[in-house]
Amino acid sequence: MRLLISVILLISLPLIGSQKVRMRSTLVCKNGERSEGRCVCNADYVGKHCEKKKMCDTFRRWSNGTCLGCLPGYDGEYCENIVCVNGEVDKNGLSCICSHPYSGPFCDDLDTKDVYRFYNNRAYMMGPLGALLIIPMCGIFYGCERMARKRQVKRVAAMLGDQTNITVHKDAVKSLLAEDV
Ligand SMILES: *[C@@H]1O[C@H](CO)[C@@H](O)[C@H](O)[C@H]1NC(C)=O
Repeated sequence: MRLLISVILLISLPLIGSQKVRMRSTLVCKNGERSEGRCVCNADYVGKHCEKKKMCDTFRRWSNGTCLGCLPGYDGEYCENIVCVNGEVDKNGLSCICSHPYSGPFCDDLDTKDVYRFYNNRAYMMGPLGALLIIPMCGIFYGCERMARKRQVKRVAAMLGDQTNITVHKDAVKSLLAEDV
């Protein structure tokens, strides 16, 4: 067994070595020039492959090239790192992979339709029982909201009615209450 492992190691070691050499010779510099096996980046690019743009919030830089401040959604000395609020940074280091139901470049957006879809999928995964639960829950929520509004209209109408001797039109109160303050 030990002999087998040593043989495998002996065979694979040069392979690993050559892999490294090959990687170095095909080093891609996205925004820069290759020089002695490294990337020398153009202005405002950093990273091993010069793949990251500095996301500074102004054109001004410290003398060492770092940012004074970052654009929202980025951090790091050079503001080169994307911040994924509800998710993970992709392998490329440039974009976010959001956890459901979040979306947007920084995974901080919540779309109503995505939220619904998320809970629908949940319900679907829970099986027919889950779907059966969701429907009455939505119904109850909607019903409560309506009832509350109706009660409020009644209450305000009664209040106004008490204070004055004029009749209060429920519709007028309703439209008043519906107005955003
Ligand atoms: C660059 O300079 C700024 C301001 O002098 C300093 O705060 C920062 O630590 C420096 N960064 C590096 C990488 O040298």
